[in-house]
Amino acid sequence: LFGAIDMAPRDPILGITEAFNADTNPAKINLGVGVYYDDNGKVPLLQCVQQAEAKLMEQLSPRTYLPIEGLAAYDKAVQELVFGADSAVIQEKRAVTVQAIGGTGALKIGADFLKRFSPDSQVFISDPSWENHRALFESAGFIVNHYTYYDPATHGVDFEGMLSSLRKMDAGSVVVLHACCHNPTGADLTQEQWGQVIEAVQAGGLIPFLDMAYQGFGAGIAEDGAVVRRFVDAGGPLLVSNSFSKSFSLYGERVGALSVVASSTEEAARLLSQLKRVVRTNYSNPPMHGGKVVATVLATPELRQLWEDELAGMRVRIKEMREALVAKLAEKAPGRDFAFVREQVGMFSYSGLTKEQVGKLRDESIYAVDTGRICVAALNSKNIDLVVDAIAKVL
Ligand code: LMR
Repeated sequence: LFGAIDMAPRDPILGITEAFNADTNPAKINLGVGVYYDDNGKVPLLQCVQQAEAKLMEQLSPRTYLPIEGLAAYDKAVQELVFGADSAVIQEKRAVTVQAIGGTGALKIGADFLKRFSPDSQVFISDPSWENHRALFESAGFIVNHYTYYDPATHGVDFEGMLSSLRKMDAGSVVVLHACCHNPTGADLTQEQWGQVIEAVQAGGLIPFLDMAYQGFGAGIAEDGAVVRRFVDAGGPLLVSNSFSKSFSLYGERVGALSVVASSTEEAARLLSQLKRVVRTNYSNPPMHGGKVVATVLATPELRQLWEDELAGMRVRIKEMREALVAKLAEKAPGRDFAFVREQVGMFSYSGLTKEQVGKLRDESIYAVDTGRICVAALNSKNIDLVVDAIAKVL
């Protein structure tokens, strides 16, 4: 049986971390995976997380099972963050949220749920999109297509192309949209463009699935989440996956959630029962620790303020690295204009480097994704010159 099984390809993102880990060069730099490092090249343990953990240590509790849908206080806190505490969908109990194993787990629950109730839908992801989107929806049994998104010539969004793709989709198609900080391109829609996308989604009877893994890394927590609220206001079905991996620097705790907006309280109860069925048959119920930490921070005013400040600090440092990268590349690679890096939003820059150039960077122990995506959040004042010199060399 096992003798005929082929070797699966390395994961396009996490496979790079595997190669990076195996590299013995002490000066190696991982610009592959989307992880925020501080200026000392360390993944931060946020103060708000440490303080919440200290609080939890004072009231240690038995490790019983969580409910299938997760910790109630966590699900509530997620809803308030994602939809706004004063949101009508919360007051009307039309939103249901299940705690998930990171943003990926949330997408998978959503994909399995949609496959069960809309089996003939096709799924559309942006061109390009996060590498795992296609694999996740295909593994749930969907046919996955692209909608036009990125224009390499402008390093921005081909918005007319995007609208035209949306208008051609059959009613009932699932359209996966990046709520903010588009991964991998860093090219986001303007608020005005979002308005037109919402109109096209509504007019076409499409099912929007917003993936929000980077809330707070664009313009701010509320600003980045604004599109979710606009979709809610427009009415219709909506799925939102969100993650605290990046915004709380809780990667290994796998803390995310899936929220679904229903048209009535009664419908919401039915949806929740079905989401629980998906969770139960995948992993039964979620782990406790990360959810407790996030719920504690979000519900404790001084910890929440601390989190907002720490997240702002990460956002600002990434912007500083963008500025530094543009300035240094202008000096070291004067033939090429990298000013677009400044306009990109979130952790990533779609640098325009080719697969071959990325391969040459790897020879210098600098790791990026084959598509040319680099994680700006992994640059710091000590490694940026090495990176710039290496990029200038491969150009
Ligand atoms: C990324 O895009 O690098 C992150 O979302 C990590 C992952 O799981 O791929």
